[in-house]
Amino acid sequence: MERVLEYIEKNQPRFLEELKDFLRIPSISSSSENQKDVRRCAHYVADQLRQIGMQQVEIFPTSGHPIVYGEWLGAQGQPTVLFYGHYDVQPVDPLNLWTSAPFDPTIRNGEIYARGSADDKGQVMMNLKGVESHLKGEGRLPVNVKFLIEGEEEVGSANLDAFVASHQELLKADCVLISDTPMFDRGLPSICYGLRGLVYFQIDLKGTKSDLHSGSFGGTVVNPNFALAQLISSLKDQDGRITIPGFYDDVLPMSAEEKEELSRLPFDVEKYRTSLGAPVLFGEKGYSALEQIWVRPTLEVNGLCGGYIGEGAKTVIPAQAMAKISMRLVPNQDPEKIADLFENHVKRIAPPTVSLSVTRMQGGKAWVAPIDHPAIQAASRAFEKAFGKRPVFVREGGSIPVVATFADVLGLPSVLMGIGLPDENAHAPNEKLDLYNFQHGIVGSAHFFQEMAR
Ligand code: BES
Ligand code: MN
Ligand code: MN
Repeated sequence: MERVLEYIEKNQPRFLEELKDFLRIPSISSSSENQKDVRRCAHYVADQLRQIGMQQVEIFPTSGHPIVYGEWLGAQGQPTVLFYGHYDVQPVDPLNLWTSAPFDPTIRNGEIYARGSADDKGQVMMNLKGVESHLKGEGRLPVNVKFLIEGEEEVGSANLDAFVASHQELLKADCVLISDTPMFDRGLPSICYGLRGLVYFQIDLKGTKSDLHSGSFGGTVVNPNFALAQLISSLKDQDGRITIPGFYDDVLPMSAEEKEELSRLPFDVEKYRTSLGAPVLFGEKGYSALEQIWVRPTLEVNGLCGGYIGEGAKTVIPAQAMAKISMRLVPNQDPEKIADLFENHVKRIAPPTVSLSVTRMQGGKAWVAPIDHPAIQAASRAFEKAFGKRPVFVREGGSIPVVATFADVLGLPSVLMGIGLPDENAHAPNEKLDLYNFQHGIVGSAHFFQEMAR
């Protein structure tokens, strides 16, 4: 490892420059205006893979954004690590809240600000450089490596499941390495062994054929905003329990052992509350905040729209109202089944005064894995070497839909070695990445490949 670590040390300034180049590409997967940028970003990733010494690199087109693949299989008799990450990013709005432009990476106080810095370009780059440092510093890798980097994670990985199912031979490996999760806290390297799943809906309520003067007609017809508010507020009770019949049927209780582990983590609920600026926390009664995020499902209204929201007052009864509603799921809950429960329930409770349309959007299964797998133990040793501290094992409330697919279709364990921080504003204005973590993350990545060798 000596030459590898020397190489990292010597090349850190260039690594940072390359991260900036990566961050300058506005690869917003959900935006039709940015299609060309997303494509350009796929090419940037492919070029990186060639430059770091992959023997074979390919861009696979999909009906959405391309999947980039690269491999180096020169370590005979050694295991194969499949790295997964995403080069697409979230939209940037509200743009006026950014201190520096989202695609003009800027360093302030040891942090690099740009959309995608924490999620997920910084963490993809960290692993590219971990591999490069073996190949260029030592001339070889201790294990075989495959890279699978997609451009649709932020829009639900719609084409990835089919790709994985039809490329099982190509993706054959011993474990998956992912860096797309945050650390539990600053200075606390974390390995994530559980993610929540997701189902996402849009519902549209239509009252009359056109907006109406609220004086001429108010009092005779339903107001879709009102009907929507009543419908939504009935989905959760005062105790934060979701009221959809059958919703909790398949939720598994947490083992006493895991509960014990969880209570040992350094988590200060008051600090958490103030860091969010919340007057009081609200969640499902009977569970701690960490349990609420990691092991309990939830239902959120992600967006609401209806009627007049412009300047001044307008007396109107809107013709329609819309809501985006999603549910985070936990292991053993089937997204299809929950989606059916939701759809049937909403159709049942919608009043006859409106016509309702329900649209299903992206989704994915939750995932949880045992932490005694040798690959996870290798990750633990690697993080300890890089950060000088034993990592903690955590679950997360977010979703990476393909992780369950890797387990179900390829039979592969996933190792989630993330170096983001919980306050790095992923999906929000002023997204940033701590450069100490980026640089030590490269060392951690390099150690992981070493630790994976037999
Ligand atoms: N990197 C996140 C997933 C994540 C977030 C894991 C927080 C752990 C903690 C990923 O890029 C993401 O945002 N996923 C989406 C998935 C969705 C679009 C299907 C999510 O969780 O909302
Ligand atoms: Mn991500
Ligand atoms: Mn994300």
